[in-house]
Amino acid sequence: MIIIKSKPELDLMRESGEILRDCFEAIEPMLRPGVTTGEIDRAAEEFIRSKGALPAFKGYQGYPATVCASVNEEVVHGIPGPRELREGDIIGVDMGVLYREYYSDASRTYPIGKVSEEAAKLIRVTKEALDLAIDKVRPGNHLSDISNVIQTHAEINGYSVVRVLVGHGVGRMLHEEPQVPNFGPPGRGPILKPGMVIAIEPMLNEGTFEVIVQKDRWTYVTADRRLSAHFEDTVAVTEEGHKILTR
Ligand code: MF3
Ligand code: CO
Repeated sequence: MIIIKSKPELDLMRESGEILRDCFEAIEPMLRPGVTTGEIDRAAEEFIRSKGALPAFKGYQGYPATVCASVNEEVVHGIPGPRELREGDIIGVDMGVLYREYYSDASRTYPIGKVSEEAAKLIRVTKEALDLAIDKVRPGNHLSDISNVIQTHAEINGYSVVRVLVGHGVGRMLHEEPQVPNFGPPGRGPILKPGMVIAIEPMLNEGTFEVIVQKDRWTYVTADRRLSAHFEDTVAVTEEGHKILTR
């Protein structure tokens, strides 16, 4: 069942999303060669708690951190630690906020210093795929119109979309119905209605869409170890179209 949020609930979700957006802004200046992923994680946790909110991922199914920090061939769910970022790396930073019982969820992929043209293009196309997907969020469209535009934009640019991880509804739970795949034909699945809130999260790979889970049982990496990028926003369906809660 897809839960429809009331106006007061959407107001709280917007506040949750604003804290998350501001948290990205707070950590962005740190994203330079030499910083460790653990330092990013600590800064994000401190920021979120200073706003009276909680880091949504910490403790979620045993996940140990505030941030998922996924570098280069890591797709998602990289665990922060002593790893130092280097010039030319790309890093996906995925974070969630729980504020007054409502979750928000977002991710951005950043270049560290100067990166290759290939890496910069992968980041750009993944962000474009998310933006095109968000443009499809309006009452009356089918859920899979979102999925289809992501896959199409990825593949015309020579990339593949990860199959085994998908976007999701979000609200009083971090993961609610419906699942939001990043692939598939248009015109299928539930029809979008005002009050639905979804986290759309394309994961694009340079090479194969196949991924492998590392020995830490969290970190997904590309099977061919080529680069991957991830962007995510929490988006509400409104009467007029949509509202992006995490920008
Ligand atoms: N943003 C991710 C998601 O949508 C990460 C959450 S998994 C966690 O599912 F365990 F790290 F919290
Ligand atoms: Co998510």
